[in-house]
Amino acid sequence: MHQVKLFNKISNAGLDLLKKDSYEYSEDLTDYDAILVRSAKLHDLEFPKGLKCIARAGAGVNNIPLKKCTEKGIVVFNTPGANANAVKELVLCGLLLSSRDIIGGANWVKTLAGNGDQISALAEKGKSNFAGPEIAGKTLGVIGLGAIGVRVANAAIELGMDVIGYDPYLSVNAALNIQRGVAYTANLNDIFEKSDYITVHVPLMDSTRGIVGEEGIAKMKDGVRILNFARNGLCDEDAVIAGLESGKVACYVTDFASEKLLAQPKAICLPHLGASTPESEDNCARMAAEELIEYLETGTIRNS
Ligand code: MLT
Repeated sequence: MHQVKLFNKISNAGLDLLKKDSYEYSEDLTDYDAILVRSAKLHDLEFPKGLKCIARAGAGVNNIPLKKCTEKGIVVFNTPGANANAVKELVLCGLLLSSRDIIGGANWVKTLAGNGDQISALAEKGKSNFAGPEIAGKTLGVIGLGAIGVRVANAAIELGMDVIGYDPYLSVNAALNIQRGVAYTANLNDIFEKSDYITVHVPLMDSTRGIVGEEGIAKMKDGVRILNFARNGLCDEDAVIAGLESGKVACYVTDFASEKLLAQPKAICLPHLGASTPESEDNCARMAAEELIEYLETGTIRNS
């Protein structure tokens, strides 16, 4: 019988598949031949002798020691695309939050508590403090046209934006799914120079760390709005903060938090909420369990 060590809470959509195939699974196993993990960091984990594979219910694999896995012949799976819709929806929220001061406006209205019938009138008096531009007719630059970037680009077209996508490794699948109207560039500077809004959707690697940095920001339009819902480190935080302080960057919305950013009034930090929907948790757990079972039963590597 196969034994699967669980890290994090894994949705029943995945656990039911393990149960169906009579796999034993638990967070307490000490000897196991597979791991099913969400975002727990496995770098310090002592692998048991019989470990054959690790399935990550999510897209990024930064929490997995890939080099160690390669050395030991342990196959690593992830679930690209399984949470892409959830992340896309949050990016669209981020796009709107970067433009319209929804958080400031809502917080202002809360300060009016206790004013009874006057609240609505008082609230309106403050509204000019929270105005912001429409996104329709503006240009969105999408850095990275994978499962999430393509969905964001297509949705932005539907919202009336002009969209430019950049990806040096554009896959055939992504190219086929890109909606008419999304312009493509192989030159990152086009994104920096032409966009009113820039959103990053690439994995974090040595070659992408700080892909939005001082040099790129200097080329951007004044008042650019930058979004990072992919990985912490893709945007050079010091450069972004310098941009916010000089006014070059009107707003930075990110799914990651830091002490320095919290001190910035024009930065909005979220707690890595991108994939936090029940639908996405089900999709990721299901796909990860399927990959894991397929490998253990047939040796087929569906995605690694
Ligand atoms: C991912 O890598 O799948 C997303 O960042 C969400 C997550 O880590 O759970």
